[in-house]
Amino acid sequence: MLANSHRVSTVVRVGAFMVFFFSCFVYFVPRRYETPALLQEPVSQVINLTELGSKFNASVVEFWQQLATALIEAKPQCNPLEVLDGFVERPGERSKPKLDKNDERRYPELTAQDETALLRAHYKMRRSAQHLAPKLPFSKDTTGIVTSANLESIPVLLVSLRMLRRTGCNLPVEVFLADWTHYTHPICERDLPSLNARCIILSNILSNATKIAKPEDSQHKSLSLLFSSFQNVLYVDTTAFPIYDPTILFTTPPYTTHGLVTWPDPHAPRISEHFYHIAAIPAPAIPYTSTSSQILLNKSLHRESLLLMLYYNHHGPSYYYLLLRSSAPAFALAALATRLPVYHVRSHSTSLGRWWNGTYRATGSAHADPGMDYEYLPPFSSHIHPSNVWMKNDTAHPIPSIEKALNYTRLAPRIPRPVFLQVDLLRMNPASVLQDKSEITFEPDGTPHRMWGLREDVVRVLGYDVEERLWGVVVEEGCRGDGESEVCRELVEWSREVVGWMGSIDRPW
Ligand SMILES: *[C@@H]1O[C@H](CO)[C@@H](O)[C@H](O)[C@H]1NC(C)=O
Ligand SMILES: *[C@@H]1O[C@H](CO)[C@@H](O)[C@H](O)[C@H]1NC(C)=O
Ligand SMILES: *[C@@H]1O[C@H](CO)[C@@H](O)[C@H](O)[C@H]1NC(C)=O
Ligand SMILES: *[C@@H]1O[C@H](CO)[C@@H](O)[C@H](O)[C@H]1NC(C)=O
Ligand SMILES: *[C@@H]1O[C@H](CO)[C@@H](O)[C@H](O)[C@H]1NC(C)=O
Ligand SMILES: *[C@@H]1O[C@H](CO)[C@@H](O)[C@H](O)[C@H]1NC(C)=O
Ligand SMILES: *[C@@H]1O[C@H](CO)[C@@H](O)[C@H](O)[C@H]1NC(C)=O
Repeated sequence: MLANSHRVSTVVRVGAFMVFFFSCFVYFVPRRYETPALLQEPVSQVINLTELGSKFNASVVEFWQQLATALIEAKPQCNPLEVLDGFVERPGERSKPKLDKNDERRYPELTAQDETALLRAHYKMRRSAQHLAPKLPFSKDTTGIVTSANLESIPVLLVSLRMLRRTGCNLPVEVFLADWTHYTHPICERDLPSLNARCIILSNILSNATKIAKPEDSQHKSLSLLFSSFQNVLYVDTTAFPIYDPTILFTTPPYTTHGLVTWPDPHAPRISEHFYHIAAIPAPAIPYTSTSSQILLNKSLHRESLLLMLYYNHHGPSYYYLLLRSSAPAFALAALATRLPVYHVRSHSTSLGRWWNGTYRATGSAHADPGMDYEYLPPFSSHIHPSNVWMKNDTAHPIPSIEKALNYTRLAPRIPRPVFLQVDLLRMNPASVLQDKSEITFEPDGTPHRMWGLREDVVRVLGYDVEERLWGVVVEEGCRGDGESEVCRELVEWSREVVGWMGSIDRPW
C-alpha cells in the first residue's frame, strides 16, 4: 500500500520533530556529576564580593569598640581558674571524653575570693550590656542563616549547605571566616554565592578594636552571631543541617513566644554550681549547657543575652569554659542571667549511628523539631510519671471504671520528630569520608555499608531516607571539581553499592 502525500509529510514532520526533540534533550540534560555550565565561566575579576561584604559601617565599628572596652573592663580580678586533673573540654575534639557527671574533681577549684571577684565582674558586664543593648547593630526585620567556617571545614559546609537547599529553603546564608587566610577565591566568589551564601571576614571588623586580644577559634561562633546583619538568626554549625525547610520555625512558637531556642547537648557535662551564684540565677533550671549545633535567635529581643554570652565566651578560656565545662555559646544561661525568656527544647536528641563490629558507633545526633516539642509539652521523669515521653494511658480518665465505660481508642501523642542533624563524629568531607576503611562506612571485612543502619529505621525516625540524600550530595560535591578523580570514582562506586540499587534489598548484615 502506498501512502498518500499528506501522510508522508506528516511522517516526515513527526520524524523531524522527534530528531529535534531528542537533540534538545541530549543538549540540555546535564550529564551526571558534571559541573553546571554556569560554574565553568571565568570568575568576575571586577567585583570582589567578599571584600564588599566584609565592610562594616561606622556605627558598627563604634559599637564594637565600645563593646570591646566593656569586655576588657569586666575581666574578673582573680587568677585564671584551674581544674585539678587538667580536664577542659576543648573545641575540635573528635570524641568527648566519657565523664562521670558527678565527679566533683572535674570542676575548677574556686576560693571565696575568686567567686566574689567573678560575681563583681559579672555584675559590671550586666550593667554594660544594659547600656550597650539599644545600640546593637542589625538590619531590622531580616531573617537568615549564619555559620562560621575555616579552610578545613569548608568542604563539610558545602555539603551541609546543599542539604539545606534541598529542603527548599532559600534564606540567605552568611559564612564567617576568621581572617583572609581562610579565604579562597573560587569558594567565596563563586561556589558559595551560587548557593545564596556569602563570605564575611571577621578580622576586618575585629581589628578596629586594637586593645582586645585576638579571639580563639572557639570564640568565632559567638562573634559571627554578633556581626551577622540579620535580626532573626538561625545559627547552624558547619557539620549540621536541617532535614526539613527551617523557614517556618521563624514564624511559629516557640520562636515567636521566646525569641531564643536552644537544644540539649547529649554529651554535656553538668555546669558548676558556682556559675549560678556568680550569674545570680536562683535555681539551676538548665543544668547542662546547650548544643552549638543550632540556635534560633531574635536579636531585637535578646540584645542583652547576646552581649552576656559574648562575655562568657571572651573570658571563656580562663574562666567560664571551666565553670560551664563547655566552649559552646552559652545562650540559654545568658538569657536566664538577663531574665529574658528562653525555650530550651526538652525532647532528647537521638543518636545517629549503627552497630559496628560489636560496638555502637555514633556518627552524630538528631535534634527535635522545636515546634513539635512546644506542642508535645514533654513530661519530666519523676515518681508520678516514670517515663519522659507520654503514654497512651496519660490521656485516660484517672478512675479506671469510668475510663472503661467511656470506651475510647486512645493514642499516645506523637513524639517530636528530628529536624536538625549534626554529623560531627564522622566529617562529611567528600575528599576524606571514605578514606579511613575502619570507619563505619565499611564493615570490618571491607564491605561498604550504610552509616545509620537500615533504610527502614532511617525512614521511621527521620521521615525519609536522609542518608540517601546525604550521599547524593556528597557525591555531587566530591565530583564537582573533577569528575575523573579517584575520590569521585570511589564515592560513586560506594554510594551505588550502598544507597543505589542495593539500598532496596533488605541486607542481613
Ligand atoms: C578580594 O580582596 C581581598 C582583600 O582585599 C584579596 O585578598 C582577594 O584576593 C580579593 N579577591 C579577588 C577575587 O580579587
Ligand atoms: C550600619 O549597619 C547596620 C547593620 O548592618 C545597620 O543596621 C545600620 O543602619 C547601618 N548604619 C548606617 C549609618 O548605615
Ligand atoms: C577599621 O579597620 C579597617 C581595616 O581593617 C580600616 O580600613 C578602617 O578604616 C577601620 N575603621 C575605623 C573607624 O577605625
Ligand atoms: C523579635 O523581637 C522583637 C522585639 O521584642 C519583636 O517586636 C518581634 O516581633 C520579634 N520577632 C519575631 C519574628 O518574633
Ligand atoms: C501507663 O502505661 C505504662 C506503660 O504502658 C505503665 O508503665 C504505667 O504504669 C501506666 N500508668 C498507669 C497509671 O497505669
Ligand atoms: C466500644 O465501642 C466499639 C465501637 O466504637 C464497639 O464495637 C464495642 O462493642 C464497644 N465496647 C463496649 C465494651 O462497649
Ligand atoms: C572487631 O572486633 C574484634 C573483637 O573485639 C577484634 O579482635 C577485631 O580486631 C575487630 N576488627 C576490627 C577491624 O577492628
